[in-house]
Amino acid sequence: MTHTVLVTGGTSGIGRAIAAAFAADGAEVFVTGRGPETVGQAAKELEVHGVVCDGTDAGQVASLAARFDTLDVLVNAAGGLTRPPAEGASLDEVLAVWQANLAQNLISAVLTTAAVQDRFTDGASVISIGSIGAERGGGAYGASKAALAAWNATLSAQLAPRGVTCNVISAGYIAGTNFFQGKMTDERHQALVEETHDKRPGAVEDIAATAHFLASSGARHITGQTLHVNGGAYTTR
Ligand SMILES: NC(=O)c1ccc[n+]([C@@H]2O[C@H](COP(=O)([O-])OP(=O)(O)OC[C@H]3O[C@@H](n4cnc5c(N)ncnc54)[C@H](OP(=O)(O)O)[C@@H]3O)[C@@H](O)[C@H]2O)c1
Repeated sequence: MTHTVLVTGGTSGIGRAIAAAFAADGAEVFVTGRGPETVGQAAKELEVHGVVCDGTDAGQVASLAARFDTLDVLVNAAGGLTRPPAEGASLDEVLAVWQANLAQNLISAVLTTAAVQDRFTDGASVISIGSIGAERGGGAYGASKAALAAWNATLSAQLAPRGVTCNVISAGYIAGTNFFQGKMTDERHQALVEETHDKRPGAVEDIAATAHFLASSGARHITGQTLHVNGGAYTTR
């Protein structure tokens, strides 16, 4: 049976690698992003469906959801970092930064999941991409990713009785994405690699393989969890 997979933020980086992994499996894959150009290019290169949809816009998300009769896998990968305001910033600037981080990293996942949840098949999976920033005092960005994990626990309690698993993949530093907007320095890269036990940056394929596993038949009893994929940079027990 062909699975239907929706990857928000599937135009680059982690989301794109996840979309490619499911497409390689023969799934019918849909990717979203905000720009017609990024969406069109990714759809063409990956040979998947592309839908322009800003995940923070309820109307656009409702239109996206209307495309699906059923959905087997939802990957909430859309996200990004709006940098903290400069010291002495006005309250309006502080508000704008917090709202942007929460909208992009939390609300987009909440809205998309709410819009499609009636279409989930028995055995479906919701996979949301969190961040090591949630454990590291990552300001508004880290707070939004911590909230994503808290929301996931509630979502799991709601959907698991229908056979739908809900998990967060908390990613450490992943190279080869647009996340750092060209601002990653060699020094910062080295410091982040040094924090890991395996002394390498994460690759987008590390996250794609984990997402693929979470959607597989072998992972049906894993739900309500945050899985850390970071080479040991943050350890759990
Ligand atoms: N790279 C890392 O080190 C790292 C570490 C931990 C967690 N993460 C998380 O991993 C996820 C993927 O990021 P990435 O590293 O792959 O960065 P990326 O290459 O910048 O990809 C971000 C994706 O999200 C899309 N996007 C952003 N805002 C959106 C919105 N409002 N609506 C729809 N799509 C939106 C972008 O598409 P358009 O630009 O076309 O809109 C793009 O496809 C994010 O949630 C990020 O927080 C990344």
